[in-house]
Amino acid sequence: MPAITASYPGKIILLGEHAVVYHSHAIAIPINQVQSKATITPLLTAPAGTILVSAPNIQLDCSLDDLSENNPIGLVIRSSLNKLGVSTSLAFSIRISSSIPIAAGLGSGASVSCAIASAVSSFLGKPFTPQEVSDIAFDVEKLHHGTPSGVDNTVIAFNQPVYFQRGRDLQQQKVGKPMHFIIADTGIQASTADVVGAVREGRQADPEKYDGVIQQIDQLVMSAHEAISAGDLITTGQLMTSNHTLLNKLGVSHPVLDRLVDAALGSHALGAKLSGAGCGGNMIALTAAGDLPEVERSLMAAGAKQIFSTILEPTHV
Ligand code: PMV
Repeated sequence: MPAITASYPGKIILLGEHAVVYHSHAIAIPINQVQSKATITPLLTAPAGTILVSAPNIQLDCSLDDLSENNPIGLVIRSSLNKLGVSTSLAFSIRISSSIPIAAGLGSGASVSCAIASAVSSFLGKPFTPQEVSDIAFDVEKLHHGTPSGVDNTVIAFNQPVYFQRGRDLQQQKVGKPMHFIIADTGIQASTADVVGAVREGRQADPEKYDGVIQQIDQLVMSAHEAISAGDLITTGQLMTSNHTLLNKLGVSHPVLDRLVDAALGSHALGAKLSGAGCGGNMIALTAAGDLPEVERSLMAAGAKQIFSTILEPTHV
């Protein structure tokens, strides 16, 4: 039995984070420059049922039995085995690695879950469908924060741009023209659970204000859905920047994120906003191809810790 490897991308949310938890729309795309990977190798001489887990990035090297019920990696492996209905008599090792920064809004947790679920199911000869991979990753997202929308696991498991609404069937986001994004890291880690929890508390304290902002975000994401489909980059950029202003009203920005957004807009980016849970993590800037070097320079000058760019290619739907 050969070794099996599964790789999954990271993701960025173009518009609609946080509001999406409250059934508003969001648009997200996979980012293949960063990836997570799970490789399963049979252990031919180990006793039946031995499952060894290693993840050098987080100094993990143990047996599956040593991982608690709440350990996300243990949970994905056990859920995958349960769903496959196999009490495995095989022995194998699973090695997990990822180049996706942790707690930075790039979907590292969901991506690792997808890679593990996919590798385990392929290794056991019953490869999960993208929906099954997504469902398992969603269960793990619930560990990270109680009320995930499901956008991260969906965009990563299907590895395509999505126009997402919680609880609805997958809708692909059509892309009319190539879009160049710069992704800049504040270097500040923020826990999605804490930030989502703070928004929940804010909404409980002032439902009128929060629901008003969420509704405005939903309107703007619906407009962006059309603009991106039509290849209207100017409108898309403006909507992204407006989305950042509204995210500020939800209290999830950070002075460094605001500084980077201002720097990008000051050097001709078409639009800029935080991406993901916020309070740190990454921001994104939609930029005309010719302006990429200038926007990158000003983001570095404004204190970005790391930068990379990605192109969203047009779709053919
Ligand atoms: O995992 P992050 O940081 O990309 O945040 C996920 C996006 C949120 O809308 C903040 C939460 C969710 O479940 O959709």
